[in-house]
Amino acid sequence: MSLPAPYYQDDAVTIYHGDCREIMPEIPMVDLLLTDPPYGIGAARRGRGGRQDGAAVAPSKDYGDARWDDRPVEDSLIAQAVARSRWQIVFGGQFYRVLPPRRCWLVWDKDNGANDYGDCEMAWTNLEGPIRRLRYRWHGMLQEPGRVHEIREHPMQKPLEVIKWAMLKAPSSERVLDPFMGSGTTLRAAKDLGRKAIGIEIEERYAEIAARRMEQEVIPFDHEEQGTRVSGRVLASVEGEESTDADPPMLDLLGEIRAARTAKEVR
Ligand SMILES: C[S@@+](CC[C@H](N)C(=O)[O-])C[C@H]1O[C@@H](n2cnc3c(N)ncnc32)[C@H](O)[C@@H]1O
Repeated sequence: MSLPAPYYQDDAVTIYHGDCREIMPEIPMVDLLLTDPPYGIGAARRGRGGRQDGAAVAPSKDYGDARWDDRPVEDSLIAQAVARSRWQIVFGGQFYRVLPPRRCWLVWDKDNGANDYGDCEMAWTNLEGPIRRLRYRWHGMLQEPGRVHEIREHPMQKPLEVIKWAMLKAPSSERVLDPFMGSGTTLRAAKDLGRKAIGIEIEERYAEIAARRMEQEVIPFDHEEQGTRVSGRVLASVEGEESTDADPPMLDLLGEIRAARTAKEVR
C-alpha cells in the first residue's frame, strides 16, 4: 500500500484517517514518536463515575462507543512505531512487553485528589536521564489553575501542556509522529512549538476533531483558495514551497510524502 491522501494538511501537520498498520510503513523516519495508544483497559467505554474525596461523582461525559480501548494494540504494532523514530515517548508503556526496561519514564501527576482514578499516567521513553514528573491538574471539570481551559473531546485526551512538556524532553523533535492520534493533542503541541508532525487516526470523528484543532491558528486567509481538496477537505497547498535553511526538516518530509504519492500515481 502507498500513502492515502491526507485527511488534513497544512504547513506544520499532516493527518491521515485510517489504520496505522497500513499507513505507518509508508511514513518516512521521524525524530520523535510521541504517542498514547489504546491501553486495553476499556476506560474509554466505561461510564466513569467514581468517588472523589469520599463522595460519589457523576459519570463523566458519554463519548459513545469506544471499542478501540477494549484491548491493547499488538506489541508488533508498537514495535513498528518505535522503528519509525529516533526517540520515543509512549504513554501507557507499562502495558507493552515489547518496550525494554529503561530508566527515563515521564510521569504526569494529575493532582486529582483522593478518588478511584489513577493518580498518575506514565510514559515509557528511550530518553537519557532520570524519571521526571510534571504535576498538572486535569480531572473532569478541574483543570490546572491559571491555564486556558481545554475542551475535552476525546475520552482519553491528554492536556496540551503535558504533551508539550514531554515533547520538549526529547533531544530532537523537529519531525513528530503520533500513529494513535485521537483528538490530535500531539499534533497541536508540535504545531505550537514550531515542529512538524504526522498523525494517524482510525476513527473519523476523532480525525475531524483533530483537523478542527489544527485549524485554530495562523492559516493565512488565502490558503483556502490555494488549497488542494482531498478527502472532502480543503488543504493548504504544499506545492511550490521553497526549501529554506531555516526550516529544512518538514520540507524534506513533505517531499518524501509527495514522492510516495507520485510513486502511487505512476504505479
Ligand atoms: C488513547 S487514544 C489517544 C488520545 C490522544 N492522546 C488525545 O489526546 O486525544 C488512542 C487513539 O488511537 C486510535 N486507534 C486505535 N487503533 C488505531 C489504529 N490501528 N490506527 C490508528 N488509530 C488507532 C483510537 O481510535 C483512539 O482515538
